Amino acid sequence: MTKEEFIAELNKDLEWEYAAAVQYVQHAATITGAEYDAIGKELLIHSNEEMIHAQKVSDMISDLGGVPVVDVEERKVSDDSKTMLEQDL
Ligand SMILES: [Fe+2]
Repeated sequence: MTKEEFIAELNKDLEWEYAAAVQYVQHAATITGAEYDAIGKELLIHSNEEMIHAQKVSDMISDLGGVPVVDVEERKVSDDSKTMLEQDL
């Protein structure tokens, strides 16, 4: 694998880190039901963790001479709380 290919793979990972962070924020804000109250708070913690991952991957890409992307991979939304959690897995 060339350095350019490795940077491209890191950028693809970066897109997924962003997507996870965005999806977790959206799900935390829209998940409903008393049984999901604690899970909503946990999703926000995970969202922040994903952004830390994004920062680390961005630094790696930059250190290798690449340019970190700002593109975001596929996010999934649902009106159903149980489905949201399945999407988050
Ligand atoms: Fe991550």
